[in-house]
Amino acid sequence: MHFFTYKKNKLYAEAVAVERIAKEVGTPCYIYSHKTLARHYAAFDEAFESVPHLVCYSVKVNSNIAALNIFIKAGSGVDIVSGGELFRALKAGANPKKIVYSGVGKREDEIEYALKTGILMFNVESPEELRAINRIAGRLKRKAGFAIRVNPDVDAKTHPYISTGLKENKFGIETNQAIKEYVYAKNKLKNLIPLGVDCHIGSQITELSPFIDALKKTKNIIASLRSKGIEIKYLDIGGGLGITYKDEVAPHPSKYGKAVIDETKGLGVTLIFEPGRVMAGNAGILVAKVLYTKQGTEKNFIIVDAAMNDLARPSLYGSYHAIKAVTPPAPPLIKGGREWDFNKRVAGGGEIVADVVGPICESGDFFAKDRELPEFKSGDLMAIMSAGAYGFSMSSNYNSRPRAAEVMVKGNKFSVIRQRETYNDLIKGEKILK
Ligand code: LLP
Repeated sequence: MHFFTYKKNKLYAEAVAVERIAKEVGTPCYIYSHKTLARHYAAFDEAFESVPHLVCYSVKVNSNIAALNIFIKAGSGVDIVSGGELFRALKAGANPKKIVYSGVGKREDEIEYALKTGILMFNVESPEELRAINRIAGRLKRKAGFAIRVNPDVDAKTHPYISTGLKENKFGIETNQAIKEYVYAKNKLKNLIPLGVDCHIGSQITELSPFIDALKKTKNIIASLRSKGIEIKYLDIGGGLGITYKDEVAPHPSKYGKAVIDETKGLGVTLIFEPGRVMAGNAGILVAKVLYTKQGTEKNFIIVDAAMNDLARPSLYGSYHAIKAVTPPAPPLIKGGREWDFNKRVAGGGEIVADVVGPICESGDFFAKDRELPEFKSGDLMAIMSAGAYGFSMSSNYNSRPRAAEVMVKGNKFSVIRQRETYNDLIKGEKILK
């Protein structure tokens, strides 16, 4: 459910015409819907209202402080994976006691920053990291709460690059070894406090069974730890719930909630979640302008002013993002104001099969391949849908392209929440040798 809809054949973000934003802010630009973000958080949080829980929105997914602030104001904690994300989260108003810190490679300065901030816990991913946190905490005369991220060896049935809970993945510690590490920490690492057990098996997961399999394994670990006198207060089951990009049917958070609650009944823990995509994915679009169209010998190309540096997902994972026209190409106009769905054949509407590509000098720079599309012409605006998660946050300056502007729409108003970068931004911090 999102609030990017057509009114009289024009695409709106809530009550603001996307065309108006593109005219004022320029393209490419990301547009987020405040109402969609807030609604997604509420839907997730409500799914667990009957049990003790803490939602820790995963900052990496959409890290703009305006987006973070919406979740934080609604009561969310945050899942961070770097000092930079901690900095952003604090700027956005996060409560340190609701911060969990994941990631396989936490640096010493980052651990120190998190300890000084007083975060809830570290999700520890290796025995060496556990010892490092103990050492740094001792130096700072602090205690560090921790969970071990266990690798439950569960197939999340998702893209291999975003599957994280298999033995061959770099994440977490194998379950038996993890138990030994908790015992070792209890006996030897005096600056650590065991608080939880953590696992995160992957992303864009559209079935419930992998989550349930992982839960069964973590429950066994908690039982084993308790039998050894190690009390566990939190069970962090990570993020991963998928969304609809095309025709995937992902479980609604309420369904996911029911399954998780049933599986953890009587466990006596506070559940922690680190959702990201399900909060932000369908709450954002990337708007691009058509620069040129050309007919190759084999293919039609629509060349737009956004590129893989703005939205890397299609190039990296071959991901599908729906593409819609911001205003209908004229003529002919559609009668009656129904949604102009360009992925379906519309009588009378010119259609072609084309690749949508960006200006970057790589063949991997595409947003769609062999897609049935309206006959976009130079100057037309297109919306690349479901770009709110892992969109801007994975963008780069490749080909020396300034990063796009980000805009938040709230009702009938919009604000630029990140200025488009300038050429000067591109060389910030660089110098020529004397
Ligand atoms: N917690 C941890 C420890 C994670 O590594 C991630 C995502 C999340 C939570 C949030 O997962 P979500 O609820 O969004 O599935 N760039 C890829 C996705 C990478 C996922 C990285 N970890 C993409 O664009 O599909």
